[in-house]
Amino acid sequence: MSSEIKSTPLKVLLTAGASGIGLVIAQEFLKTGAQVFICDVNPAALQLALQDHPGLHGCHADVAVEEEVKNLVTRAQHHMGGIDVLVNNAGIAGPTARIEALALADLENTLRVNVIGQFLCAKHAVPHLRLSQQASIINMSSAAGHLGMPGRSAYSASKWAVIGLTKSLAIELGKEGIRCNAVLPGAVDGPRIRAVIAAKAQIMNKPLDQVTRDYENQSTLGRMVTPLDVAHTVLFAASPAARSINGQALAVDGHTQALS
Ligand SMILES: NC(=O)c1ccc[n+]([C@@H]2O[C@H](COP(=O)([O-])OP(=O)(O)OC[C@H]3O[C@@H](n4cnc5c(N)ncnc54)[C@H](O)[C@@H]3O)[C@@H](O)[C@H]2O)c1
Repeated sequence: MSSEIKSTPLKVLLTAGASGIGLVIAQEFLKTGAQVFICDVNPAALQLALQDHPGLHGCHADVAVEEEVKNLVTRAQHHMGGIDVLVNNAGIAGPTARIEALALADLENTLRVNVIGQFLCAKHAVPHLRLSQQASIINMSSAAGHLGMPGRSAYSASKWAVIGLTKSLAIELGKEGIRCNAVLPGAVDGPRIRAVIAAKAQIMNKPLDQVTRDYENQSTLGRMVTPLDVAHTVLFAASPAARSINGQALAVDGHTQALS
């Protein structure tokens, strides 16, 4: 039996690719020669990302709106001539508040983007993925998708739901040659986590420095992870090197054992 792992440039549909972790994932895929089609809900960020990265293509879409997802998948398929990989990256931080202070609308919006968004993208991409010889779905979860997170119950619940979706799709689609895995980043250094830490410091009435240190020390490595760490894992999960990896929750969190 040959142990050679063959790879052809992938056709990647990536949600929320205009900034943050998504843009870094897009850049890393582009470096491999992949075609990358992104969407984003923020028109200004999308325009800037497409301007700055001539190889990158994309359109506006809110992943939680089915008509926009249908249009996104159709456009991506036409543009790339197929879809090999769906990276369900879009996800919002949701409210930072104790349970009794949570507004229903914030809770619903978190679940709408983080869970329903991934359902919709998978639902509409699967007919195209089925035609690919190197098909996979990568769902962005979080360390909060296997650990509890006080003050962030809406987010944590949404990211646990992503694991259930991932494992179910892995079983449902595996025999059709479509793998489905989740990536679970720990705290990723960047503007979003800094905003979460500031909100957390406020509700816990603790100094910002102390909450920042607590976040860094959640990892056994004593530091946050980087967007590039996350992108490397996504690229691995999409690659032929991961051809027998299905239904897994791949943690990129420096072995975080509890979230503060
Ligand atoms: N940043 C972290 O510390 C961290 C940790 C663990 C997991 N994650 C997960 O990684 C993913 C990316 O996180 P990030 O920090 O880059 O996010 P971010 O908040 O920086 O947002 C990235 C992009 O998502 C877009 N977006 C938001 N809602 C959207 C929607 N409904 N449809 C389409 N695009 C939308 C935004 O416009 C933005 O351009 C998310 O699923 C997040 O939950 C992040």
